[in-house]
Amino acid sequence: MLKDTPMAYVESLEAARRQTDTQWQERAAAMSGDSSFTLVADSGQDGSKLCALMRVVLKHPQDPEKPLQAMLISVYVAPGHRGLGLADELLKEACKAAAEELSAGSMELGVHEENSRALAFYRRHGFETTGAGRPYPQDTSKRELTMQRRLP
Ligand SMILES: CC(C)(COP(=O)(O)OP(=O)(O)OC[C@H]1O[C@@H](n2cnc3c(N)ncnc32)[C@H](O)[C@@H]1OP(=O)(O)O)[C@@H](O)C(=O)NCCC(=O)NCCS
Repeated sequence: MLKDTPMAYVESLEAARRQTDTQWQERAAAMSGDSSFTLVADSGQDGSKLCALMRVVLKHPQDPEKPLQAMLISVYVAPGHRGLGLADELLKEACKAAAEELSAGSMELGVHEENSRALAFYRRHGFETTGAGRPYPQDTSKRELTMQRRLP
């Protein structure tokens, strides 16, 4: 996924390849708590053929006065599965599970300003740009836009 659409992610392929096994294990452990989940669609019996991936993590620190906020990260649909509804299915499930299982009241994400396909996809699912953002880490002349939507 990093090779396929580099601008979709804040980590470069080179940086990911430099990670040691221990670092990958630490990252996996950080994602295994009860404040996050990962949705995976695969087409192989052993899960080897990745079709799509989406991760949701609760944003911290949380203000106890405000509803919990979820972050959508690591969004990827393999090229052969785009435009067929798989992304819709996963995002609907991600929003539902974020509301029901993480009790989140809203979902936020960051998207490269030139990733027009992702922008159109998120807009279709009710996400709107908030006006916030930051320089895109791999090319600070570009912006990573923040989008948000309320969860049912
Ligand atoms: C972003 C992504 C998950 C969307 O899934 P998808 O199955 O491709 O989404 P869809 O085709 O249903 O919808 C994309 C929208 O972009 C439009 N679109 C299709 N190809 C496009 C292109 N080359 N450029 C711009 N828009 C495009 C579609 O018409 C659709 O618009 P609509 O909702 O107004 O009809 C998927 O393309 C993907 O994984 N891309 C690579 C990784 C990525 O960018 N991740 C997001 C990181 S924030």
